[in-house]
Amino acid sequence: MADIPSSPLESLTLDRLRRRHSVKWRHYAADVLPVWVAEMDTPLAEPIREVLREAVEAGDTGYATDCGYAEAFCGFASDRYGWSLDPSVPILVGDVMGGVVAALDAVSRPGDRVVISTPVYPPFYSFVGRAGRKVVASPLADTGAGLRLDPDRLDADLAGASVYLMCNPHNPAGHVLTREELIAVADTAERHGVTVISDEIHAPLTMPGERHIPFTSIDHPAAARAFTLHSASKAWNLAGLKAALLIPGPAAEVSDLPDDLWAAAGLFGALAGRAAFAECVDWLDEVRTGLDHNRTLLAALLAERLPEVGYRPPQATYLTWLDLRAYGLGADAADVLLEKGRLGVHNGTSFGAEGAGFVRLNIATSRAVLTEAVERMARALDRPASAA
Ligand SMILES: Cc1ncc(COP(=O)(O)O)c(C=O)c1O
Repeated sequence: MADIPSSPLESLTLDRLRRRHSVKWRHYAADVLPVWVAEMDTPLAEPIREVLREAVEAGDTGYATDCGYAEAFCGFASDRYGWSLDPSVPILVGDVMGGVVAALDAVSRPGDRVVISTPVYPPFYSFVGRAGRKVVASPLADTGAGLRLDPDRLDADLAGASVYLMCNPHNPAGHVLTREELIAVADTAERHGVTVISDEIHAPLTMPGERHIPFTSIDHPAAARAFTLHSASKAWNLAGLKAALLIPGPAAEVSDLPDDLWAAAGLFGALAGRAAFAECVDWLDEVRTGLDHNRTLLAALLAERLPEVGYRPPQATYLTWLDLRAYGLGADAADVLLEKGRLGVHNGTSFGAEGAGFVRLNIATSRAVLTEAVERMARALDRPASAA
């Protein structure tokens, strides 16, 4: 047992988690085990608790200012990504999707085509659609080594488009784009006059041995015109506090960006985000170690209990993309897992048509919960423990 790491993922009991008010714990009935939305089953890192406690005690609950969030991010980006960025550049926004819409408004018009690499995070469809843009689904390629960018397909789909809304690291495919892949994206975008908006919310959550490269950090004219989005919200579990950073490249079209984007941000989000990037890097690394262990544990549990599930351990994020097509559950496999196994996972179809028969399962939890989740899947698929 000595090689099993302790991590913040092991700190909370299921009883305590079930008392949470967040959507992960309130969406389903009490007998359902929720391993769906991108929240983590961790307590807050101590420096974040401290800064929030101080703010509550001081009644410091007014409108947000940056609070040093951008500067702390720039320090982290320099250490982790080798990205040298002036702290005056990131713009405080309420959340990543709000920043995406602001960037879309700045660089495109209603009716324009916005390309996304599918299957992908469902709000990429809904927010782009609500902004009046036309969503162009550009499928990732099944390379045999997981889903990855298909450069030829992207080239064809970017023709006539205004924006490529990229997700890197990718949710739900779990890959981290290499420098060569990013340069291919930049070349293609440049050829078609497309602006890249790069959602990098999962960047702190790379697995050991993987390296995230921010798109706007590469030396390329298309990268200089791009927008990148970062946030502490996924890696430190702060989504409800609302604060993200929209980072225009040095040649990005910013003249149409409103100057009051900060108004959608929460002061607690900015305070917590500063503490996260500046003071909670050790805590992050403990979580990453735990996630690395969980992605391997999931492989072992599936091999033992449900060997026909297709699964590639992610290179980043705590989101796993499971292929259940061999079990013949139909397109909406999550509905069967919910009904027969009382397990709450995301239906693959919400990520795109190619998600039929897939589900997304969140491994940012304890080993006990992850083990129980696979047990419930096995029950739903009529593979009781004795028959395994
Ligand atoms: C790729 C991606 N982008 C954006 C978000 C949402 O971020 P925010 O709440 O800051 O809009 C998520 C949440 O899971 C995500 O996975």
